[in-house]
Amino acid sequence: TTTPVTVTVTGAGGQIGYALLFRAASGQLLGRETPVHLRLLEIPQGRAAAEGTALELEDGAFPLVRSVTVTEDATAAFDGVNIALLVGARPRGPGMERADLLEANGRIFGPQGEAINAGAASDVRILVVGNPANTNALIASAHAPDIPASRFTAMTRLDHNRAIAQLAAKLSVPVAAIDRVIVWGNHSASQYPDISHATVNGRPVTDLVDEDWLASEFIPRVARRGAEIIEVRGSSSAASAASAALDHVHDWVNGTGERWTSAGVVSDGSYGVPEGLISSYPVRSVGGEWEIVPGLEIDAFSRARIDASVAELVEEREAVRALGLV
Ligand code: NAI
Repeated sequence: TTTPVTVTVTGAGGQIGYALLFRAASGQLLGRETPVHLRLLEIPQGRAAAEGTALELEDGAFPLVRSVTVTEDATAAFDGVNIALLVGARPRGPGMERADLLEANGRIFGPQGEAINAGAASDVRILVVGNPANTNALIASAHAPDIPASRFTAMTRLDHNRAIAQLAAKLSVPVAAIDRVIVWGNHSASQYPDISHATVNGRPVTDLVDEDWLASEFIPRVARRGAEIIEVRGSSSAASAASAALDHVHDWVNGTGERWTSAGVVSDGSYGVPEGLISSYPVRSVGGEWEIVPGLEIDAFSRARIDASVAELVEEREAVRALGLV
């Protein structure tokens, strides 16, 4: 398509925004044929950083960029939006309880959901990156009754990519040799990176790795990778998170073919996940829609881990219900 696409990035002045916007400008979000209007939404504290990013976007002289707008007004930011990347969120401050965190984020994602509901294009696709991503996506969706719940997604692609990378390193194969890795549940330490269906060059991965490595190294390494990055880098994952966001949207718009990926999508009750929760699943993108891969056998090891992560999502939903946010 050569019709320009409107892409809104919230938290555009932050570190993920800085990594994301230049690659979106160069065509890595939607493809190298698609021109973009970039809308950068910030709050007063982040406005100057976003303005600076906008100046640098101008200096990139990107042929696909038709306009760059910086705003603090959600209504303006989401008017006519086709792709909404909700990155800006309230981080957990010292001594902040979970209920406070959920409430602070409810005050961001509720109004943003309303603004999307009021003004978005009919084909709008929303990816929530800002944490707690699954529940923030649920809150936004609850405030957008006119938009199908399937359009609200939460990012677990970074966890998925981390799992593939760890597996490829363990097996000394290129990442492209690996398929059918799954991340289930919440984007949190309770997530379950599942390799029981994974293949390497079409062969079952479970033939090549032992359960001990799986339980004591692989799963905790992937689930704790965010903390490892903070320890080593001194700040949280940014370019890898931006890269995963590009992968998620690119696959959603352009399709995955037969390959699987992972995304937080609204549950239809599949695999025992309560309907309406936004939980990570194995997915394929077909005709511009995510489809949950059906009919997989779930062994007892996987069942317990999926259930534990989903229980956390249920608790988060209860908490935001109690606060009147959904
Ligand atoms: P950052 O702190 O560098 O940037 C966040 C930006 O959001 C700030 O500039 C802030 O002013 C802005 N912001 C806050 N509230 C806003 C609002 N209501 N509207 C618009 N902008 C707003 O943070 P960073 O590193 O860019 O991370 C952003 C979020 O992404 C965090 O919540 C982080 O936990 C999450 N994250 C999620 C990952 C995932 O895999 N789902 C991976 C890595 C980070």
